[in-house]
This record gives sequence, C-alpha cells and structure tokens, in this order.
Amino acid sequence: MVTVREASLDDVENLHKIGEGVHEFSVNDGTIAFWPKDTLAEAISSDDVIILVAEEQSSIVGFVIATYVSGLRKSTIENIFVTPERREAGIGDALLKNLLDVLASHGCQYVATLVPQNAAAAAGLYKRAGFARGETFVWLDKPLSGSFKRLSAS
Ligand SMILES: CC(C)(COP(=O)(O)OP(=O)(O)OC[C@H]1O[C@@H](n2cnc3c(N)ncnc32)[C@H](O)[C@@H]1OP(=O)(O)O)[C@@H](O)C(=O)NCCC(=O)NCCS
Repeated sequence: MVTVREASLDDVENLHKIGEGVHEFSVNDGTIAFWPKDTLAEAISSDDVIILVAEEQSSIVGFVIATYVSGLRKSTIENIFVTPERREAGIGDALLKNLLDVLASHGCQYVATLVPQNAAAAAGLYKRAGFARGETFVWLDKPLSGSFKRLSAS
C-alpha cells in the first residue's frame, strides 16, 4: 500500500539520490537539476517548504516539493516525481491532493508551478487537479554560490 507522509531528515539521502537523476528537473546545462543535500535537509526542517513523500514497503516511490510564502499566501510547486515503474497508478494525484490539503491548512490562497513544455504527464496531472494553463515563459537563472553549479560547467 502507498502512503503519503511528510519527509523527515532520514529521507534526505534517498530523496537526493532519486531527484538528481530526474531529467525533467533540469533547466539548463550550467545549473544542477536538483537540490543539494544540505539544502534538502534545511528545507525539511523549515516552515516555508513542504516535502511530502509517497512510500511503499519502506521505499520512496514519489515525492513533491513546494514552497509556501505566507506573506503572499502563495505556493510554488518546485518538483513532483513518481518512480517510472509505479506511474499511472494514481500516486502523482495522491501526492498533489495531499499537498493541496496541507497548503489549504496553512492558509494558502494561490498555487502555481512550472513544467517543461514536453512533460505531458505532468501537464495532465495538474490539469486533472484543476490547474489552468498560463503564459509560456523563458527560464533565466544565476547560481549565487558553487552549490547550484553543475561540476561539468565550472
Ligand atoms: C508527472 C508524474 C509525477 C505523474 O505521476 P503518476 O503517478 O504517473 O500520476 P497519476 O498516476 O496520478 O496519473 C498519471 C496517469 O495515470 C492515470 N491513472 C491514475 N490512476 C490510475 C489507475 N489506478 N489505473 C490506471 N491509470 C491511472 C491518470 O488518469 C493519468 O492519465 P493521463 O496522463 O492519461 O491523464 C510522473 O509522470 C513523473 O514523475 N514524471 C517525471 C517528472 C516530471 O515531469 N515532473 C514534473 C516537472 S517538476
């Protein structure tokens, strides 16, 4: 059975191992695709980040990471992922539904996310949950420390 729960510090290694290999999280060749381990650990302990994991037989089969800025009552969903062999079984829907429930309990009034233009499964997931498609933007970024630079680009 799959359960959805909040991530704990014990999950950092596994979350990082899974997340760094997800090509849909990559935004360009110079920036790392996923959060550094120490950033993930801080995120788990912080009030402004929500990380939920889907767990099956003690293994993480999916996760969702979102920020919540209470001053703006706004959330941004940063990453959602389900392991390929467990897709199309409703785990992505369950992660998103749980996240929206947690955000509502925090007083969140607006939630947005960015998905790659060719990520059809992600677009379908968000559409089913009632998200409306908006403007198409160009991603611009700038690492302010070495920890967000890809080693191959430095
Ligand atoms: C996007 C993603 C998280 C979806 O996860 P998922 O667990 O497969 O999502 P769901 O199972 O809830 O829904 C996927 C499909 O399965 C269908 N489905 C859900 N439950 C089902 C079930 N019990 N039996 C059969 N099909 C089912 C859904 O209707 C949906 O179909 P559709 O895409 O044709 O509309 C996953 O594809 C993924 O990890 N992609 C790579 C990462 C990514 O792109 N992330 C977004 C950018 S950050």
